[in-house]
Amino acid sequence: MEDLRFEVEPNIQRASTPPASLYTDERWFEAVQQRVLSRAWHWIGDAELLPPSFHAAPTTLLPGSLQEPLLLTRGEDGRLAAFSNVCTHRGAILCEAPSSSRGLRCPYHGRKFRLDGTCVGSPEFETLADFPSSRDHLRSVPLGVWTGQLFAGISPREPFGAWMGSVLERFAWLPLDRARPIAERSRDFEVRANWALYCENYLEGLHVPFVHPGLAQAIEYASYSTELWPFGSLQIARAQPGEDAFEPPPGVPEAGQRIAGYYVFLFPTTMLNLYPWGISLNAVQPLGVDRTRILFRSYAWDAARLDAGASRDLDSVELEDERVVESVQVGMRSRLRAPGRYSPTRETGVHHFHRLLQASLTA
Ligand code: FES
Ligand SMILES: [Fe+2]
Repeated sequence: MEDLRFEVEPNIQRASTPPASLYTDERWFEAVQQRVLSRAWHWIGDAELLPPSFHAAPTTLLPGSLQEPLLLTRGEDGRLAAFSNVCTHRGAILCEAPSSSRGLRCPYHGRKFRLDGTCVGSPEFETLADFPSSRDHLRSVPLGVWTGQLFAGISPREPFGAWMGSVLERFAWLPLDRARPIAERSRDFEVRANWALYCENYLEGLHVPFVHPGLAQAIEYASYSTELWPFGSLQIARAQPGEDAFEPPPGVPEAGQRIAGYYVFLFPTTMLNLYPWGISLNAVQPLGVDRTRILFRSYAWDAARLDAGASRDLDSVELEDERVVESVQVGMRSRLRAPGRYSPTRETGVHHFHRLLQASLTA
């Protein structure tokens, strides 16, 4: 196999796609975990992860790949914080279930911590010099909150505000704080394909007329557009006449147009689909070089519009996408496959994703 790096030419007119081994070789999958996933922000859940009556709850960052045990706490001041959920004594998992207690005690040898991660004591350590000290406190983990959604990372390369910045700038006009979870619209899918293939498929509308006959009737293909952001991208689908749509207010770049959906991608694993009824959030969880789980979560501010327009039949659209992405995974295993080219009009989002991936792998 080639050296673990690839180059995607910045000029899309001349660029070729990454080598197929990126999607099939375990060593690439390992490199992606080390250099990309552990250095990025990921969705970890919504406010239900730590209901108001609890002060601490465990969660896992990217189960199946990073598998990092995290602890979410709500301090006396109501502030949320995230920590490593690994005890600083001998490494036991500190918190195994949501807890309403105002402190934490390790189930293994009884070490105690405050909700702000400070170690306050450990049985039979009373005579130990310089104990507890800062190295005995829980390791703090970056946590970002956006409209009730929680994001964390082991050591993200950019601050949360920068990563989420384009969303904050672009979508302040939406009633995001009115969005409520719709449990019956939440589900998890498993795809037999590499996580990046799933993202790439998400990042272009070129396949819509071929793969999604239903969706193709709700959106206007000719005006479908992509905007590149520093840490992701935005695709905008205008609505066909008569289909349910956003009517963005004056001051928004699409004011005066009818928008069926905004598709936000935040590198590397977060997708926020904004529809007239609310948000469909997709969190991508790489499970193996050719296995990926996608969590679908819905939050509505106008549930009456749920089954209209571009989101009329999200389950069918998802199955259509999965079928094609799994077919690409088979294609990537072909010994005869060579890198392809990009459509300069329709695949700028895919090209940008590959550029971000390359930058993250080589940083
Ligand atoms: S591992 Fe936690 S107190 Fe020993
Ligand atoms: Fe699709």
